Amino acid sequence: MGAEKIRVLIVDDIAETRENLRKLLSFAPDIEVVGTAATGEEGVQLARELVPHVVIMDINLPGMDGITATEQIVREVPTAQIIILSVQGETGYMRRAMAAGARDFLVKPPSGDELMATIRRVYEIGQAQVARMAPLQAAPTGPAGRPAAGRQGQLVAVFSPKGGVGCTTVAVNLAVALQTRLGVGQKVAIMDGSFQFGDVGVMLNLQATRSVADLAVRVEELDTDLLTSVLTPHPSGIKALLAPPNPEAAEAFIGADSGTAEGSRRIGAILDGLLSEFDIVVVDTWSMLNELTLTFLDRADLILLVVTPLIPDIKDARHFLELADRLGYPRTKIGLVINHSDRRTGLRLDQIERALIPALAHIPYDERAGIVAANRGLPIVTEEASKPVGQAFVHLAAGVLERLSQFRKTEEEEEPSVEVSRRLLGRALGI
Ligand SMILES: Nc1ncnc2c1ncn2[C@@H]1O[C@H](COP(=O)(O)OP(=O)(O)OP(=O)(O)O)[C@@H](O)[C@H]1O
Ligand SMILES: [Mg+2]
Repeated sequence: MGAEKIRVLIVDDIAETRENLRKLLSFAPDIEVVGTAATGEEGVQLARELVPHVVIMDINLPGMDGITATEQIVREVPTAQIIILSVQGETGYMRRAMAAGARDFLVKPPSGDELMATIRRVYEIGQAQVARMAPLQAAPTGPAGRPAAGRQGQLVAVFSPKGGVGCTTVAVNLAVALQTRLGVGQKVAIMDGSFQFGDVGVMLNLQATRSVADLAVRVEELDTDLLTSVLTPHPSGIKALLAPPNPEAAEAFIGADSGTAEGSRRIGAILDGLLSEFDIVVVDTWSMLNELTLTFLDRADLILLVVTPLIPDIKDARHFLELADRLGYPRTKIGLVINHSDRRTGLRLDQIERALIPALAHIPYDERAGIVAANRGLPIVTEEASKPVGQAFVHLAAGVLERLSQFRKTEEEEEPSVEVSRRLLGRALGI
């Protein structure tokens, strides 16, 4: 970023708070407070004039409140990244602020470290945004990394930054619904990408005799016969590539910290194999963003981002969307799935979609169906076909097929480089 300083505007009606923030920031050599405002109106005005990189915005302001001011600044100065400052317990406001386009939150009084780190983080996001908007930028676009010749299939990765929100449920039911919809003429596979604690086998009530571990050590000789021999068929017609029987077996091929380059290479080769045999491969990924998960996400044509209507989910999903931007994933590559969509959490679906992206599907919560699925291994989409939850998966499958067919039409477009993604990620996460 060169010697450019991060230009910050502070909006708070209390003079002492403004002064404290300014003092805290005076210790950061890379941050400069370019202005302070005591009201929302003044904040919007100064944002227009000063075009700051970052705005620190109090929620409770006399006159125009911080949320309305945030909305206006987002609209008029889209490059400005807004951090909301709130006192504990203002979560109701925070929801609204997030929907208004705020990037992050800090609880008053923030520590100096927290404040600086948040400013630097949102600044980086803003810079990436600017780079994307620049006409001559070389950011990759289009569906991610196509492997060498022979591939026909498309990859759908189901991911959530949070565990336990329903990724496996979505992956399993989507695969079954896709197969049902496509009929016997087309082949659908599911891969359990959660190598250490995968649940796909249990959710489909499959006895695993072979797993991805059997393939991973023999990727050099991978062919149709070998692939077929390790896949487990399910009565719905889909084939499953299951997770290893225990975490140690997974470690043996993916590396001790679940993220070696060699592990990724092997998984890449397995994906190549699967995609040359199947029309659609659904992969259930782990919530952890390591090398392996990124291999799946990079290679995916479509990433289904699963959230439930809870603030931490939405916040993490937002961070993921920002990361996806920095990785050069086009927004069309991501489909939002709101699970437990009918749960009364105080968050409306339209608010979530405004804070994130429009959803591809809303999946209602059905406790009984969930228990049957988990404990008897019977997919919701077949067991509860007539219930709203079953219908929701059918709807999701239709949405996924439609999105994938759009990609097929633009298949010849440029391909992003996975190398570029890695570099950007390294910068984004400081690894
Ligand atoms: N829409 C739903 N209605 C009812 N139960 C559901 C629904 N979605 C998920 N469940 C249940 O919630 C539990 C957690 O779901 P699941 O295992 O799919 O989540 P996950 O994101 O894969 O979790 P993990 O992080 O452990 O892999 C399961 O018992 C599942 O049956
Ligand atoms: Mg899971």
